[in-house]
Amino acid sequence: MIPYPTVIEGTRIVLKMLSPTPTNAQMVCDLVKKNTMYLYPFLKEVVTDGKDVLNALHHLRRADNLCREDDTALYYIFHQGKMVGAIEALMYPHERELRFWLDHDAKGKGLMREAVLLMEKMLFERNQDRIILGILDSNTPSLKLAKRLGYTEDWEGYFEITYDKFHMLRKNNSRKSLTNLYDRTNGR
Ligand SMILES: CC(C)(COP(=O)(O)OP(=O)(O)OC[C@H]1O[C@@H](n2cnc3c(N)ncnc32)[C@H](O)[C@@H]1OP(=O)(O)O)[C@@H](O)C(=O)NCCC(=O)NCCS
Repeated sequence: MIPYPTVIEGTRIVLKMLSPTPTNAQMVCDLVKKNTMYLYPFLKEVVTDGKDVLNALHHLRRADNLCREDDTALYYIFHQGKMVGAIEALMYPHERELRFWLDHDAKGKGLMREAVLLMEKMLFERNQDRIILGILDSNTPSLKLAKRLGYTEDWEGYFEITYDKFHMLRKNNSRKSLTNLYDRTNGR
């Protein structure tokens, strides 16, 4: 497996994989605590993972190990030298699911748009077939962001216990589709 880049430079943001150190765990924990009420309705697992420094350290260690096995790629988003959120690519056999969140104060500046585009570029260059996003029906900013970036509705579902409606959206790797088409045409 080709190792994931530990730093991805954008124009306004930098994505960094954080090593599992107490200082990094403290930084994650501080940002999650600041945003607990805001994140809870959409990403309960982020709130749980960062609820205290030990949990955050465990979370960073776990992500570090899973990344070595190609099971996840977790990046923290930095803007003007400050950590302002995170974006993670969870790995499934034929697709990668992106999950993301921003500091409440960093919203509305197009930063997540850039973060998603950087992750797409990195994942599609690694020859992934497609990226999916699972978004709650109530999460208007996320749905708008996904549609603006060209994600299309795949299917809708309901969580078994809460009956919350969610949408599955997808974007295919266009470079790969073209190659497949070319291969298929040549094969005839
Ligand atoms: C989702 C999230 C990352 C988007 O952050 P962002 O890039 O700053 O996005 P914005 O706040 O600029 O909003 C994106 C779009 O939603 C619109 N929007 C924002 N808040 C809205 C609201 N309350 N109602 C309707 N539309 C809204 C914006 O106008 C923008 O639309 P546009 O591109 O047509 O102008 C951020 O809101 C977040 O961290 N939310 C909590 C965690 C979360 O939901 N993560 C995703 C789980 S799938």
